[in-house]
Amino acid sequence: MLNIPDFASFRNVATPFYYYDIDLFNKTVAEVAELSKKYNVHVHYSVKANSDSRLNDIISAAGLGTDCVSGDEIEFAVSCGFDPKDIFFAGVGKTDKEIVQALQVGIGAFVVESLEEIVIIGDLAKKLGRRVSMSLRINPNIDAHTHHHITTGLYEDKFGISDRSFDEAASLVKSYDNIDFFGLQFHIGSQILDVEEVVKLECERVNDIVARFERDGMIVKNIDLGGGLGIDYDDPDNNPVPDFETWFRTIRKYLVARPEQGVHVEPGRSLVGQAGSLISRVLYVKKGENRRFLMVDAGMNDLIRPALYGAYHKIENLSAHYDDNDSREMRVYDVVGPVCESADTFGKERTLAKSHRGDLIAIRSAGAYGQVMASHYNMRPFAPSVYSDRLAEAPRRKDYFAK
Ligand code: LLP
Repeated sequence: MLNIPDFASFRNVATPFYYYDIDLFNKTVAEVAELSKKYNVHVHYSVKANSDSRLNDIISAAGLGTDCVSGDEIEFAVSCGFDPKDIFFAGVGKTDKEIVQALQVGIGAFVVESLEEIVIIGDLAKKLGRRVSMSLRINPNIDAHTHHHITTGLYEDKFGISDRSFDEAASLVKSYDNIDFFGLQFHIGSQILDVEEVVKLECERVNDIVARFERDGMIVKNIDLGGGLGIDYDDPDNNPVPDFETWFRTIRKYLVARPEQGVHVEPGRSLVGQAGSLISRVLYVKKGENRRFLMVDAGMNDLIRPALYGAYHKIENLSAHYDDNDSREMRVYDVVGPVCESADTFGKERTLAKSHRGDLIAIRSAGAYGQVMASHYNMRPFAPSVYSDRLAEAPRRKDYFAK
C-alpha cells in the first residue's frame, strides 16, 4: 500500500493530483549517484520521463547530467542547475532553432540520428563559427524484448544510424573540421526487465561496433548505452528502488572500454517511476449489466499509459486501508475515468476493497511518463504535483455548498 505519513492532511487535497514520495525519490537518486561513482558510469537523467522542477532540482544536486530531446528541455535543465557540459541533446528531429540554442548553451554533445543531421548541425555550427561535439546514435538492430511501442533498436524503428551507413557517417564526420567526434550512443528500448540477458547482448554488439569505428580511424571517446532499465509495476512496495547495481555491473562485465573511455547511461523511468502515484477520488460506483465500474475523477488525459500501451498500473483503495484498516470485503471493478473515450480505463477486472463515493484511489508507479504525457483533452486541467513532505502546501478541496 502506498505509504502516506499524514492521511488526515492528504485526504483534503484536491484531486486528481500526482503524489511524489520525496523520501523514496531521494533514496533512489542517492543510490544511483553512489553506484555511478562506484562503477564509473556517467548518469544522464532522461528529462522526458518527468519534468517536475523539484524532482529535477534534486537530481541535479546529486551531480547527475541529463539527456534532453527538445530546446525547452535544455532550457529547463539549465534552470534546474544541470551543468550544460553534462547535457546531451538527442531526438529524431531537431529544429534549427533548437540546434542554435543548444550550441549557444554549450551542451556536452549532440546525439545525431541520421546522416542528414550530421550535415545540418555541422553547417549550422560552421555558420555560427562554432565547434560542435557530436555522438552518433547507432541503431544496433537488437530486440529489447519489451512492448513494441517502446522498442527502438530495430531496423524497422525510425531511430539511429544502422550498420549499412557507418562508413558514410564516419566520412561525413571527418569531412567537417568543426565537428569533434564525441562517441557512439545506443538505446534499444524501455522497460527492460531481463537486464542481464539484454544488456549482455547489447554490450557485445556495442563492442563490435565501437571496434569497427575505431578501425575506421574514429576514436570513440565515449560510449553511451541509453536508458531502458525497467521497474516493477506489479509490486512497487517490494521493489521500490530498481536494481541499478545489476545494470551497472552487467555493463562493466561485458562492455569493453578503455580506462579513458567515458561510459554513459540515460535512465528515465527507473529514477522517477516508483516515486510517483496518481491520486484520484471515487465519483461513484456504477453497476453495469455485467460489470461494476469504479468511476474516478482522474482520466486518460492525466495518465495515458493504460490507454496507449495497455500498460498495467497497480490500483489501491487508500481509504479502505487508512480509514478502515483493510476490513472491507473485496470486489471486482473496472476502474474508469470520466473522459469520453472507452479507452479511458485504468484497469479491467481489478480486485479492490469495496469502494464508495469519496474514497481515495492510488494508481501506482506513475512517476515516469505520467504527468509529462498529460493533455487538456475534454478541457480538463493538468493534475498538479503534490510532495509527501509538503502536504500542507497542496491545493485543498473546496466545499461547493458553503456560503
Ligand atoms: N535515451 C533515449 C534515447 C530514449 O529514447 C529514452 C526513452 C531514454 C533514454 C529513457 O528511457 P527509460 O530509461 O525511461 O526507459 N512513454 C513510454 C516510454 C517511452 C521511452 C522513450 N525513450 C512509456 O510510458 O512507457
